[in-house]
Amino acid sequence: MAHFDKAMPFSNKWMDQRLAVNTLQRVLSTEYWIPKNINFLWAMGMILAATFGILVVSGIFLLMYYTPDTAKAFDAVNYTIMSEVGYGWFWRHIHGVGASLVFLIIYIHMFTGIYYGSYKKGRELIWLSGMLLFITFSAEAFSGYMLPWGQMSYWAGMVITNLFEGATPDVLGGALNFPHFVEWLRGDYVPGAAFLGRFFMLHVLLMPLVIMGLIVLHFGTLRIPHVNNQDGEEIDFEESAALWKAGRKKEAKVIPFKPVFLSKDVFVMGVYFILFFYLVFYHFEFAMDPVNFDPADPLKTPTHIYPEWYFLWSYEILRPFSKNIGLIWFAFAQGILMGLPFLDRSPNVAPANRRGLFKIWFWLLLIDMITLTIMGKLPPTDPTFAMIGKVAAITFISLWVVLPFITMIEKPVGGKK
Ligand code: HEM
Repeated sequence: MAHFDKAMPFSNKWMDQRLAVNTLQRVLSTEYWIPKNINFLWAMGMILAATFGILVVSGIFLLMYYTPDTAKAFDAVNYTIMSEVGYGWFWRHIHGVGASLVFLIIYIHMFTGIYYGSYKKGRELIWLSGMLLFITFSAEAFSGYMLPWGQMSYWAGMVITNLFEGATPDVLGGALNFPHFVEWLRGDYVPGAAFLGRFFMLHVLLMPLVIMGLIVLHFGTLRIPHVNNQDGEEIDFEESAALWKAGRKKEAKVIPFKPVFLSKDVFVMGVYFILFFYLVFYHFEFAMDPVNFDPADPLKTPTHIYPEWYFLWSYEILRPFSKNIGLIWFAFAQGILMGLPFLDRSPNVAPANRRGLFKIWFWLLLIDMITLTIMGKLPPTDPTFAMIGKVAAITFISLWVVLPFITMIEKPVGGKK
């Protein structure tokens, strides 16, 4: 057994002897070095972590009164929680606004990473774990959307699971064929009790657990390569940290995570939470679809079915094509972002505006995804909008096809390559 010096029970020393809390604090905060040369966009990661925390807390409150029963779920949410339970509306508003804003911040965080090339040169795992977070957040949001059991919950569930009809190929003469895949997925012929039960389980247990594990992994992947900076400069972190510790703080290119960087993060977070609570109190409706305030009715299909805003771009990639082709492009759109660190063939780690053709590629991608989002919300009946949507979908696919070629011929930036 290790030797233990006498220490006051539960004092810092007592805890350190038993749990190495001081080492942990050094490794994770006071000696975790962050470049000085970064802007407010680098606060998005901590804002995401904080928003996830708020979603968990508000979700726990909602869970106390929610019932995963097709006959009771709608009333549990819209009557019990919204008007009978004290401050039930407050927690629901927080949960709804949080679920929507978390995607806005995820997209800002992703595009910051793309713009500054923060997925390259040792940072590939940061990107990949981030993408896994994006996928699990999507599953978390979709499963949560089923729970109020309103018209949009039901019909969005129907449309998305319908996509898998006939999606399993008839291989080995039918030996591996799964002709009733959709029924297997739903647990019934149409979305019903089994469907709601399994999405409830995914939403309140499995997905949050996976997300927590992935956040730890994502933070872990940051520890060794460190975060990037506004110029993509390769900093000698040990040398700079030594300068800081020696008191030569002006010369050091880094600051410690705690307390210096954290205080900046907390400031940006403060601004974010002003917006957050403004929406919670005054504009909650932006995070809610009016159609979902009607209870699910299997006999009444809504005239226009569409997903939440954050899924619209990928929905619009699927919609203009026939079902199987659309499904392939949809899978492509989801998967291709993962491949970014490997498709970008240029060793330049620099902001997009210094990277020749990549600059145009970046802005085209952003504008294209916004166009897809806008078109995805409109009904497919207008031929002009349908055409714009199709062109935007083809542009999205083409952009990823050309990426390796334009980055292969990219000139070195700042003496690199
Ligand atoms: C949703 C949960 C997420 C959380 C809690 C989270 C958290 C963080 C934190 C705290 C940082 C360091 C500071 C910063 O740059 O903001 C970071 C960096 C990073 N994240 Fe995330 N992130 C999440 C999702 C994502 C997603 C979806 C992606 C994109 C695929 C992503 C890609 C990155 C990249 C590339 C960096 C490195 C930035 C740099 O080196 O400058 N993250 N993340």
